[in-house]
Amino acid sequence: MNAALSGFHPDGHGASRAHTGQLGGFAAEQLLRLCEVVRLSPTDATAYAQVLTDALGPVAERPLALPPPARSFLSDDHTPVEFSLAFLPGTTPGLRVLLEPGCGSDDLVENGRIGLGSIRAMADRWGFSTGQLDRLEDLFFPASPEGPLALWCALELRPGGVPRVKVYLNPAANGRDRTADTVREALARLGHRRAFDALPPADTYPFLALDLGDWDAPRAKVYLTHHGLSAAEAGVLPRMTPHPGRPRVEEFFRTAGGFAADGAGRLSGRPALSCHSFTETATGLPSGFTLHVPVRDYVRHDGQARERAVAVLRRHGIDGAWLDRALSAVTSRRLEDGVGLIAYVALVHEGDRPPRVTVYVSSEAYEVRPPLEALPSHEWAGAAL
Ligand code: TRP
Repeated sequence: MNAALSGFHPDGHGASRAHTGQLGGFAAEQLLRLCEVVRLSPTDATAYAQVLTDALGPVAERPLALPPPARSFLSDDHTPVEFSLAFLPGTTPGLRVLLEPGCGSDDLVENGRIGLGSIRAMADRWGFSTGQLDRLEDLFFPASPEGPLALWCALELRPGGVPRVKVYLNPAANGRDRTADTVREALARLGHRRAFDALPPADTYPFLALDLGDWDAPRAKVYLTHHGLSAAEAGVLPRMTPHPGRPRVEEFFRTAGGFAADGAGRLSGRPALSCHSFTETATGLPSGFTLHVPVRDYVRHDGQARERAVAVLRRHGIDGAWLDRALSAVTSRRLEDGVGLIAYVALVHEGDRPPRVTVYVSSEAYEVRPPLEALPSHEWAGAAL
């Protein structure tokens, strides 16, 4: 076993894991292995591992024996890094990494300052404009921000060593009661004046995201929280044209959530999220729709989460072996020995392109959540565990 992964105890339990090494090395090693799985060249892999540790800044050198640098909401164990794979039939999956550049600080002002600095450094390095982000800076980075994050960044690790960059902002920055107004104002500043009114009903708006850099059609994306969602309700969330089709969305929801094929029931714990992306201002309608199911809260262990993800992949013509290789690249623990390695499974529709499946994979640098032995039935009502 390779040095940076030597912190994994063979039995895989978080509590018995020897916390050796540093956060940056640990995550970079996972990234290198994932790059191999998705067949990025060793040169690209090395470059991206360096990009990851650069983006983490001084926190990269933090010993894993210490607690997480901040109570990052990015992942359940507060690792400020999460991987994801974007699957399309008949092709190698795309690898992405989500991270919190300001994770060295629990103070939202400082965290945001570091985050913005990190995005601007990437913009200088790779020669893209931060114009869209600059237009929103005063809105998302007020003097006394509130909420669970300041700025996250996701990198799409395509071949060539230059990632595509996405920035995630916090609509609760100006207070929870002003979340909807903040989203409406942000969309309007980006030219999407009718976009907010096109969105379906939501409990709240956890993120607003922007594509920066070299995209064919850069998106402004709005994330919506839906507590207690049912399959039938999920099916009518999309507002995009062309509509992805209710049956497909419902079927995905049931498979990922663990409901019977014709089953009713709701995700009564951690909520599902929908994401609506805007690429043009002519129609006022979104051109993309994603449904994110937090599968980790509706399974006993990751073996079951993997089965759900593989069923979704298979349904969309994708070989589940890719996912198995990716999971082995990230951890050597048995899937049954923990829950949360697979954080979300998502179904993505963009324009008239074939649907894509995304699986979010936790780094688990700090902790593995123990599997559920018995069902706390009141909490899991509705979902077939
Ligand atoms: N950890 C947070 C959550 O579970 C945020 C988050 C991380 C997230 N990765 C995500 C949300 C992927 C949706 C999809 O909500």
